[in-house]
Amino acid sequence: MTYMKEKEFLQIHEAFLRSHPEKYTKWFVNAPLSGRFRRFLSAIRPLKWTSVLDVCGAYGEFASYMHAVEGRHFEYTCLDFNPHRVKCGPHYLEIFGLKGNFILHNIREPFPLPEEEFDMVWLFGWCDTLFDCYKLFNEIYRVLEDNGIFMFNMAYAGYYKTKYSEAPLRELMKKTSFEVLRLNKIDSQEYGVVAKKLVKTRIGENEENENPMANNGFQPD
Ligand SMILES: C[S@@+](CC[C@H](N)C(=O)[O-])C[C@H]1O[C@@H](n2cnc3c(N)ncnc32)[C@H](O)[C@@H]1O
Repeated sequence: MTYMKEKEFLQIHEAFLRSHPEKYTKWFVNAPLSGRFRRFLSAIRPLKWTSVLDVCGAYGEFASYMHAVEGRHFEYTCLDFNPHRVKCGPHYLEIFGLKGNFILHNIREPFPLPEEEFDMVWLFGWCDTLFDCYKLFNEIYRVLEDNGIFMFNMAYAGYYKTKYSEAPLRELMKKTSFEVLRLNKIDSQEYGVVAKKLVKTRIGENEENENPMANNGFQPD
């Protein structure tokens, strides 16, 4: 199968956004070109997944890039509270041959999704500046399959309004029953985190899975 060249993808992406204008079009035009996107991509490139939940996923631009340019095949669900993006998202993905389930939802509320539905969750967008991360990560835990992967970014403490430096961030992951596979500074502003859902055996106790394939082939730091 021939995949789309990056340049072709970006032309189609931009044309779509221009024909469905909104206030922040320029930001979204640039999103798939950005350094942060490329760094995330390199972190998750070795992973395999079949069903992704994109929390605050907007039009689904990261999914369409991965599908069209990287040749990844997966089911895609997006939660976003912007009606314009949720309405346009399915048409946008369709251009790239990807189907998507877009749900209009404020992620401050419990997700309208069943338990253990996804093997990958993305959350790109400095969640701790906006949300109670403990509550949010517990909800992400609920919808992930056992050993599922949660990938997110977060700004450094002190930058903008964020609260977490590395140690409290690791503590938060532990408290919400995720094993950190990678947590590193990906630029001068933000951490990139890849974590795995730990299977709860008893209250307050986690079980490490010793199967080497359990991390989807991801090599922890
Ligand atoms: C800056 S965009 C990021 C989009 C994409 N994840 C990316 O990194 O390119 C943030 C998205 O989060 C959505 N959002 C912000 N607060 C939200 C909330 N409380 N519930 C659901 N979506 C929210 C916005 O509508 C927007 O589409």
